[in-house]
Amino acid sequence: MTALSKLQSISHPIFKKHHISVAIKRDDQINNIISGNKWRKLKHNLRHAKAATAKGIITFGGCFSNHIHAAAFACYQQNLPIIGIIRGEVSNQDNYTLAWAKHWGMQLNFVDRKTYRLRNDESYLQQLQQQYPDHIIVPEGGSNTLALAGVAEIIDELNQQTEFDTLITPVGSGGTLAGLILGDKAQHQLIGISVLKQQGYLESQVEELLPAEAKKLNNWSIMNQYHCGGYAKFSQQDAEKVREFSQVTGIDFEPVYSGKMILALLELIESGYFQPQHRIILLHTGGIQGLAGMFERGILNEDEWPTLPLPPMSK
Ligand SMILES: Cc1ncc(COP(=O)(O)O)c(C=O)c1O
Repeated sequence: MTALSKLQSISHPIFKKHHISVAIKRDDQINNIISGNKWRKLKHNLRHAKAATAKGIITFGGCFSNHIHAAAFACYQQNLPIIGIIRGEVSNQDNYTLAWAKHWGMQLNFVDRKTYRLRNDESYLQQLQQQYPDHIIVPEGGSNTLALAGVAEIIDELNQQTEFDTLITPVGSGGTLAGLILGDKAQHQLIGISVLKQQGYLESQVEELLPAEAKKLNNWSIMNQYHCGGYAKFSQQDAEKVREFSQVTGIDFEPVYSGKMILALLELIESGYFQPQHRIILLHTGGIQGLAGMFERGILNEDEWPTLPLPPMSK
């Protein structure tokens, strides 16, 4: 098996001080649009849709969603129609994420928060299925059983690339961590860094995604103290630390997903959580396109952050 992404060793004064080795699995480099975990999660979903000769895909996301952006492009490439059920107002349709999604042919159906909350509700999904027969519904974040199979392949690649003790990933909807658990079969310690403020439901969400035989595995945990105030929230100081880390390592990160993993890593190492000689792998899940929404809303300064994978769409 040839690895889809490379493994890159990184150095940082804090790693050196604590005698920890860190390498990063560059899934962000698999494709600059279908970046990071999106590629892994969509791969078998789209294959399944093609094999089933589905009329199209229906999926869900917010106005700045990495999943929406990636799924729109992946379906465009595969010549598969796609409908995005988008949480938010139509007035957002020209933002970077959605303008590109629309450009690639995604049909954008905007819904209010109340309706969006029904995204996993059986009767709402049945209703959607009736409205769009022969379409395949892929949940928010692309996290379903088929996604797990794609993510699990990361572990096979890693086992060929190196030996390690701990693998760390950011956690949003849980599909990535669940796929890693499935692929890992309890060989390593797996740590998920929750990027949102939650009280324990992410753990059960991950468990629910796992097949019965993997539910009893206990080599994984989710750390809930590194969300920096909640989903897509962070202080300027947090953002600055992420930027500094990018400068030291020469790797682009953003503060919504991978950046929170970096902040967690630094704190864990500094607090002595890992024994000297511990070997850590970070999964780079991509997400650079998400910076666009931060620039558009003036939350981050475009001149200080990585260049977006594509220029803004002209209206
Ligand atoms: C860039 C990025 N990293 C990490 C995640 C978290 O992955 P998951 O939703 O599978 O937990 C997401 C969301 O899907 C994401 O967009």
